[in-house]
Amino acid sequence: MSPPAGIIIDTDPGIDDAIAILMALAGSPQGDLAHQVIGLTTVGGNVPLARATRNALAVLDAAGRPDIPVHRGSSRPLAGRFGYSFAFHGNTGLPGRLPKPQAGHANQRAAEFLAQRLRASPGEITLVALGPLTNLARLMQRHPGVLELAGSVCVMGGAVNSPGNVTPHAEFNFYSDPMAADMVLSSTVQLTLVDLGASRQVALSRRQVSALKGGNRMGEMAIRLLQDWFRLDQGRDQFQFYDPLALAASMDSQMAGVRQMTLQVETQDQERLGESKVVRPGGNVAVPERVDGVRFFAMLNRLFGWDGLDPENLL
Ligand code: RIB
Ligand code: CA
Repeated sequence: MSPPAGIIIDTDPGIDDAIAILMALAGSPQGDLAHQVIGLTTVGGNVPLARATRNALAVLDAAGRPDIPVHRGSSRPLAGRFGYSFAFHGNTGLPGRLPKPQAGHANQRAAEFLAQRLRASPGEITLVALGPLTNLARLMQRHPGVLELAGSVCVMGGAVNSPGNVTPHAEFNFYSDPMAADMVLSSTVQLTLVDLGASRQVALSRRQVSALKGGNRMGEMAIRLLQDWFRLDQGRDQFQFYDPLALAASMDSQMAGVRQMTLQVETQDQERLGESKVVRPGGNVAVPERVDGVRFFAMLNRLFGWDGLDPENLL
């Protein structure tokens, strides 16, 4: 019998990664092969690889899913070094504190795990990339043609026709490894790119987050993460659901209206490093333009069992 299909999340937890992971766990009751979380692969980015791996293990453990394997990927981009983002996520990469995970990471590295699983279940695995695209680029280098075996690929990254969040031109994941981002986007892989223009359409204010209550085990963890994140800095007024929107779009094709584009990522001009550039209309990249915010927050309510959030009255 071929191994179960499902979803693999490549991630650099980070608070928004953690919420996306919790969404996937909530949407994947044990035994439901349709959305089974097959495993996580970790990459440096928000935090060093070791910390991203520990955070991924801690989230799985706290959510009661230490059975899900975590495979380590790249500690550095294809060129240079990661810049990290502790100020945004907290000094451990997650706001608040999660218990020390009991489970350890798997021995098999990320690229080999991805290659093995994609070859075993061609066309059946949803791959969601929530950090720098280094692991996907390494997969392409070491196992040519395997990334194309994914059933679907959804990436959080880029700032298509919208300002960046690291420089005026570049979004964090693409800025962290522009060569990897350009390699993946310029390949023949069909993918959905949830960029800043899309993810800025789904945010909650400090007041809205303070009103959240109840929920299942994953939902209560997500509320604690969000409320702890606002406590890190009294100047914060809203939380934008970058990675959770990418996860939502991977599970629901009606989450946003998309436009197909061919894109490149700037890898040479230091001032515009990591910029996502539209080469021409049409092509392999589907970029969400009009996000259905009511649908997104209704999904969060359904997955997490939250009270205190009315998707129809968010303004
Ligand atoms: O620009 C937002 C992205 O960078 C998110 O994936 C966030 O987790 C950080 O990695
Ligand atoms: Ca991330």
